Amino acid sequence: MPSVAIIGSQWGDEGKGKITDYLDENADLIVRFQGGNNAGHTIVVDDKVFKLHGLPSGVVRPGKLAVIGNGVVLNLEELKDEIDQVIAAGGSIDGLRVSDRCHLIMGYHKKLDGAEEKYRGKNSVGTTKKGIGPTYQDKIARIGFRAGDLLEDDLLKEKIAFILPYKKDLMAMMEAEKCSCTVESLYDKMVGWRDMIGKCICDTSVLINDALDEGKNVMFEGAQGAMLDIDHGTYPYVTSSATCGGGICTGSGVAPNRIDKVVGVVKAYTTRVGEGPFVSELKDEMGVELQKKGGEFGVTTGRGRRCGWLDLVVVEHASRMCGFTSLCMTKLDVLNDIPELPVCVAYEIDGQEVKKFPASIAKLERAKPVYETFKGWKGWKDTDALVKGGYDNLPGEMRDYIAFIEKYLKVPADLISVGPDRDETIDRKGDWWN
Ligand code: GDP
Ligand code: IMO
Ligand code: MG
Repeated sequence: MPSVAIIGSQWGDEGKGKITDYLDENADLIVRFQGGNNAGHTIVVDDKVFKLHGLPSGVVRPGKLAVIGNGVVLNLEELKDEIDQVIAAGGSIDGLRVSDRCHLIMGYHKKLDGAEEKYRGKNSVGTTKKGIGPTYQDKIARIGFRAGDLLEDDLLKEKIAFILPYKKDLMAMMEAEKCSCTVESLYDKMVGWRDMIGKCICDTSVLINDALDEGKNVMFEGAQGAMLDIDHGTYPYVTSSATCGGGICTGSGVAPNRIDKVVGVVKAYTTRVGEGPFVSELKDEMGVELQKKGGEFGVTTGRGRRCGWLDLVVVEHASRMCGFTSLCMTKLDVLNDIPELPVCVAYEIDGQEVKKFPASIAKLERAKPVYETFKGWKGWKDTDALVKGGYDNLPGEMRDYIAFIEKYLKVPADLISVGPDRDETIDRKGDWWN
C-alpha cells in the first residue's frame, strides 16, 4: 500500500505541481486533499505548459484517477474552463473523481472574500479572492453545500431556500458586490453542475483506501505550503485549510498509518504572495533579481511574489509539522552565478537567538535573520547533460549548499530540480513505490 505525499515547505509555489507530475508517472491515483483554486500548479512537459488550479496534477497523464478529496473546496463554475483547457492540451478528465463530502465554492463566497478584504483595510490578508476563506467558514458554520448535495434533489432545494437568503443578508451587511441570483436561478445553475460532474461524485475515502488495500500507488498532492496552514502558519496571514501533514488524513479520509513517504518541496530561496511576515525577505535589487530570474509571478493572480533568501527556520518548522521523509530542492538553477548565498539559520528577536519559528506575528515583525553564507556556483550551458551527469557531477558549491540543508533538517534531499520541465530533475532515490 505505498503512498507518497507532496507538501510545500514554505509559503506556496515551491514547484509542487512539477514534482507531483514527475513522481506520479507510476501512481494510480493522485489526490488533492485541501485548498481550492487558490492554488496554481505549473507542469511543463516539452513545449506544453499546464496551469492547474482546482484539478489534481494527475489529469496531465491520461489513465490515472485524479481525486478531489473531501478537504478541498471546489469551484465548479471555474472548473469547467480548466477542464476544457486540459482536454485541449491533450490531458484527460476521464479519471476525475470528486468526494461527495467536498464543499462547493459559490458565487457569493467570492463576493464575500472581496468584501472581507475591503473591510479589513490595512489588515487585509492579500487573499486570492477566490472565495476560499468564506467557503471554509460556511463548512465550519455548517451551512455549506457539499458536492453530494447535487445528487439529492429535495435536499438541494431545501438547502438553497434556507442558505441563499441568509447569505444575501450577510452580503448586504458587508456591503459586498450584489448577488443577482434567486433561489430558482441558483437551483438551475446547480442542476447544470450535477449534469457536468454528477457521474464523478463518490465516496473518495473508500476509493482511496480500497486502492491502498489492493496495493495501488497513491499520491497526495498538497496545495499552498506549511507556512500558510490555518493552525501552524503565520496566522492570520494564512489560507483557511490544513496544509500540513495532518491535513492529508482529514482531507482525504485516510488514517495516518497509511502515509508512507512525505516529500517536502523546498524552493532554493523563499517567496511569498500576499501580506504577512517574511524574515528573510529582500527588499533590494537582489530581491528584484530573484523575482525576475525565477519568474516569480503568481499563477492564479499574476501578482509579483516577494522574494528572499532560503530560511531554514521556516523549513524546520514545516518539516516538524509535516514529517518530511525526503526533501525535493527546486529552482536551484535560479541561484546560478550569484557569488554569495546567505541562508537564514536563526532569528534574532529582542537580543536572543531563536531557532524555532514563533507563533507571534509581533515577534516575527521584530525578528532579524541570522545568516550563514555559502559560496555560489557557476551556471551551466546544457541542462540535459547536467541531469545526465547525476548528483555527483553537480557543481561542488551546489552540493555543499544542499548538504548543509540536509544536515540542518536531518532529511535527505532525494530530488533535485534544476529547471521547470519534467525531465530537468535528478532523482537520487529511484524507486519511490516500495
Ligand atoms: P506550485 O504552486 O508549488 O506548483 O508552484 P508554481 O507552479 O506556482 O510555481 C513554480 C514555478 O517554478 C513554475 O513556473 C514552475 O514551472 C517553475 N519551476 C518548478 N521547478 C523549477 C526549477 O527547478 N527551476 C526553474 N527554473 N523553474 C522551476
Ligand atoms: P499554491 O498551491 C502561494 C496565499 C494568498 C494569501 C493567503 C490567503 O500554488 O502553492 P486565500 O485565497 O487562500 O484565502 O489567500 O494565501 N495563497 C497562496 N500563495 N501559493 C498558493 O498556492 C496560494 N494559495 C493561497 O496569496 O496570502
Ligand atoms: Mg503555485
